[in-house]
Amino acid sequence: MQINKYERGLQDKVALVTGAALGNGRAFCERLAEEGAHIAIADIADATETVEAVKLITPHVEAFQGDLTNEAEVHTIVQNIVKRFGRIDILIHNVGIYEEEPFELLTFAQWRRMLDISLNSLFLTTHAVVPIMKQNQFGRIITLSSDIVWLGTPYLTHYATAKMGIIGFTRSLSAEVGKYGITSNAITVGLTATQRATDSPLSSSILQHILPAQSVHRSDEPHDIANVVAFLALPASGIITGQTINVDGGVARH
Ligand SMILES: NC(=O)c1ccc[n+]([C@@H]2O[C@H](COP(=O)([O-])OP(=O)(O)OC[C@H]3O[C@@H](n4cnc5c(N)ncnc54)[C@H](O)[C@@H]3O)[C@@H](O)[C@H]2O)c1
Repeated sequence: MQINKYERGLQDKVALVTGAALGNGRAFCERLAEEGAHIAIADIADATETVEAVKLITPHVEAFQGDLTNEAEVHTIVQNIVKRFGRIDILIHNVGIYEEEPFELLTFAQWRRMLDISLNSLFLTTHAVVPIMKQNQFGRIITLSSDIVWLGTPYLTHYATAKMGIIGFTRSLSAEVGKYGITSNAITVGLTATQRATDSPLSSSILQHILPAQSVHRSDEPHDIANVVAFLALPASGIITGQTINVDGGVARH
């Protein structure tokens, strides 16, 4: 394939960002829109605030509300996105929940809920989107994991399992879909100054103490992650696949 070495930006590409009603996902939507992408948001929560924020950059944005652990709802969302935008070029699997629980107190229900929201949603969404990307011979799948998979942070056995699962999925998929012009890469995110992180007792105390552990002594902000998301989404990044990029200020020197 001939690549225009000056090709840049995401003009008129269609990006589906999951879990973008708030937090990191909102920053991803804004950053991709700045590069010219049209933005579809899928979230179980009302994403009006994200839509309004993106509208300051582009009119091409819409939210599709639904539960991404429900197969029928995922199919309806994906069909509605294709009806509205014509195709899907970029999938950002950002949906997730965070919960700290000592292993001995962790219930099977908590364990299953974590895997359902982090991993089953990944399977369902990717399974629905890959045929569309394949048809267009172009796709960028970017999954959000966590640097705790390298650090072994306590009270997170269920979260760490789900986040490591995301990496295995992303790598294995890359080997299957590369021939269709689709790349699949993961980002391991450090503790980022989102609302969720500052609301969580363990995360907010870690946030205060984490800076000395970082090589770069400033907090990890959603736009730091968004820049890497935008880079991996570029057509010009098409040779990068099956990789995991750690973005945490250098806590885990992965
Ligand atoms: N913020 C951090 O410090 C940090 C650190 C490491 C990794 N991450 C990862 O980055 C991603 C985003 O983190 P965040 O802090 O912005 O999270 P967040 O909790 O602020 O946002 C997650 C979004 O997912 C949505 N969601 C939850 N369950 C859903 C479902 N079943 N269907 C559809 N939507 C659903 C929520 O409504 C919410 O809008 C997550 O995957 C998280 O694990 C975050």
